[in-house]
Amino acid sequence: MLGKFITFEGGEGSGKSTQARLLSEQLWRVGVHTFITREPGGSPFAEALRQVILDPNMPPHSALSEALLFYAARADHLDNTVRPALNSGLWVICDRFIDSTRVYQGIAGGLPGEVIDTLNEMIVSPTYPDLTIILDVPAELGLGRAHSRRVDKVNPDTEADAYEKRDLAFHWKLRDAFREIARAEPQRCVLIDAGLDERVVFSEVWRAVQTRLFALAR
Ligand SMILES: Nc1ncnc2c1ncn2[C@@H]1O[C@H](COP(=O)(O)OP(=O)(O)O)[C@@H](O)[C@H]1O
Ligand SMILES: [Mg+2]
Repeated sequence: MLGKFITFEGGEGSGKSTQARLLSEQLWRVGVHTFITREPGGSPFAEALRQVILDPNMPPHSALSEALLFYAARADHLDNTVRPALNSGLWVICDRFIDSTRVYQGIAGGLPGEVIDTLNEMIVSPTYPDLTIILDVPAELGLGRAHSRRVDKVNPDTEADAYEKRDLAFHWKLRDAFREIARAEPQRCVLIDAGLDERVVFSEVWRAVQTRLFALAR
């Protein structure tokens, strides 16, 4: 049996990694075997490219060059991680995927949507997500969380990456773009208010998974 493919999308600090983990734990509890992965990355070659893509000291480069790096990583991630896992029946939960490309390199970066559509047809098809959960928070709130995650003494993160360092106007643009995707693709996407307590947010995530995927799977 083929597993389901669930992606989490949203700005910095919107809670993607937190909710991906909570969802994975809950699915295991109800007997669904899951696998968590992330982009950019998720396979050895793609993780190596992640270092390049997120390096805040990279020389300036175009949104097209950046998108092609993402798709080099994505092709490898799909072939070596996502598709084998789905084919073995695991439900794959991915922290960021194609909508982040559309938002960061497309809408915010100026890369035409048709270029991304073409790359998706070449590289992603037919492995589109069964469900995409878009976590929506005001830009300041998300950036504040991302900052406190970094200064957390118990679980310190790395320095701010190339995107997190961009100005507030850029982050508001990202938020609007994610909301627009949710509006345009209601079959695949669910927009969730992620400004609330993480357990409250998770109850909405779980409700979406149950209504969108379990109704069909069980
Ligand atoms: N609903 C929430 N309310 C408050 N803090 C949260 C919430 N969800 C996550 N956090 C915290 O905010 C920080 C960023 O969350 P994270 O899941 O890493 O976001 P993302 O992966 O989207 O960047 C972490 O320190 C996390 O513990
Ligand atoms: Mg994260």
